[in-house]
Amino acid sequence: MADFRDEIRKRRTFAIISHPDAGKTTLTEKFLLYGGAINQAGSVKGKATAKHAVSDWMEIEKERGISVTSSVLQFEYDGYCINILDTPGHQDFSEDTYRTLMAADSAVMVIDGSKGVEAQTRKLFKVCVMRHIPIFTFINKMDREAMDTFELLDDIEKELGIATCPVNWPIGSGKEFRGVYDRDTKELELFSDTKKGTTVGAVKKVPLHSEEARGVVTEEQYQKLEEEIELLDGASAEFDQELVDKGELSPVFFGSALTNFGVETFLQHFLKMTTSPLPRNSDKGEIDPMKEKDFSAFVFKIQANMNKAHRDRIAFMRICSGEFDAGMDVFHIQGGKKVRLSQPQQLMASERKMIEKAYGGDIIGVFDPGIFSIGDTLTNSPDKFVYEGIPTFAPEHFARVRQMDTMKRKQFIKGINQIAQEGAIQIFQEFNTGMEEIIVGVVGVLQFDVLKYRLENEYNVEIRLEPLPYEHIRWIENEEPDMDKLIGTSDMKKIKDLRDRPLLLFINEWSIRMVLQRNEGLELSEFGRS
Ligand code: G4P
Repeated sequence: MADFRDEIRKRRTFAIISHPDAGKTTLTEKFLLYGGAINQAGSVKGKATAKHAVSDWMEIEKERGISVTSSVLQFEYDGYCINILDTPGHQDFSEDTYRTLMAADSAVMVIDGSKGVEAQTRKLFKVCVMRHIPIFTFINKMDREAMDTFELLDDIEKELGIATCPVNWPIGSGKEFRGVYDRDTKELELFSDTKKGTTVGAVKKVPLHSEEARGVVTEEQYQKLEEEIELLDGASAEFDQELVDKGELSPVFFGSALTNFGVETFLQHFLKMTTSPLPRNSDKGEIDPMKEKDFSAFVFKIQANMNKAHRDRIAFMRICSGEFDAGMDVFHIQGGKKVRLSQPQQLMASERKMIEKAYGGDIIGVFDPGIFSIGDTLTNSPDKFVYEGIPTFAPEHFARVRQMDTMKRKQFIKGINQIAQEGAIQIFQEFNTGMEEIIVGVVGVLQFDVLKYRLENEYNVEIRLEPLPYEHIRWIENEEPDMDKLIGTSDMKKIKDLRDRPLLLFINEWSIRMVLQRNEGLELSEFGRS
């Protein structure tokens, strides 16, 4: 009989992070193409939301009753079972984007070779670093004019503070792009455009020191390549699996997702350099999926159904150990009782499908009658452990909420709390006043519209949002800080969360530095404890 451990061993669960337009969707689609999950590129509508206005987005959410903005794709390749977690960009960037990274075991960072590290990549990267997960870099669009290769690596190292180790090296870029040099096999992989990569193209490999190599690469390119290899062998970090595992060294690959070049090479190396799901921390120590036979999972995302007739939701959970059977009963630790996980579903390419079985490493969405919260643990283990919580990520936009009809205070409080509990927004209060003044913080501005729309439609409450100028929030790490003694700056604001924990809002980073200087021993964090 097949052991569930064999299934878990096959699993690779990773997120793709990038700045919009770097080629994340294209790369994902090509992975699916190689995995045989789709026959022709162009069949995944991953970008469905990218160019939509808010109203369209609402319609999409309503129609599907599920997020189209953060999906999971599963496919098989070369004996592996791969789960790709999509991290939405553009205007639908939200706290969910960060939370998705909590469910991944590693991350692939896609960088546009002509642009280097961009803002959104930087933000998502910080979360990967906090989790110490392996980070792989795919430098894309080499068929376009790219930055100098050393400069690109330098940019990653300086901007992100991670060492890089190129696994291959590009030969030219744009019209002059000839392929990549594999530093391990010392072969050239030659580039041929496969009609915009609609089908899997054959990769031709020739040794560096061969007539064939000289035939495709100009004399100038050949010399440059030899010089660069020499420089690289002397200067760059050596491949070290242990450092990769800790997220301190990023293996770097070059290619062109659009034309399929370098995609399969990347996938093959990536799968070998990553591991199957690893142990995760709980209040009873590490839970190892290779030892723990009982089912366990944690909720990392809750998606409200926009259909106001039934206020049901879908809870997305990452399975950490054991196996899942459709309709099984599991113990919901925070709720203190057994629940049936019904309507389990997984996303395959652009479709949602019901599933019968899933294993540690997989992500499933289940029907939530309103009982789950982000970070909750579900398990059938008699040990009843609780997985480490999911941090609260720093919102970057803040607004004061004004309720239009004060008679509806109760609905308003209920609605805003409910929406905050789902994790779409964070709510705060003025430091010295009561619940009268509510300040809401969001990671992506679209969430303001979602809040307004949902309060009106689901709770019949009209609100006005007055934007506040703050862009940075910091949690205070010190135990019981004396807020009266804290020396601030003129553009700092004290607020508190619903559990009365103090926080600070700042307009700019300069202010944060000033406050740290003025208050010795003060410890501020970008991530809040849940
Ligand atoms: P994203 O998900 O990271 O936002 O990026 P996406 O894959 O949608 O790619 C953004 C644009 O870049 C797309 O063009 C895509 O075709 C192009 N692209 C992706 N990879 C490569 C590559 O390796 N080389 C080149 N030259 N272009 C690439 P678009 O015109 O915005 O969209 P479309 O009309 O082609 O779909």
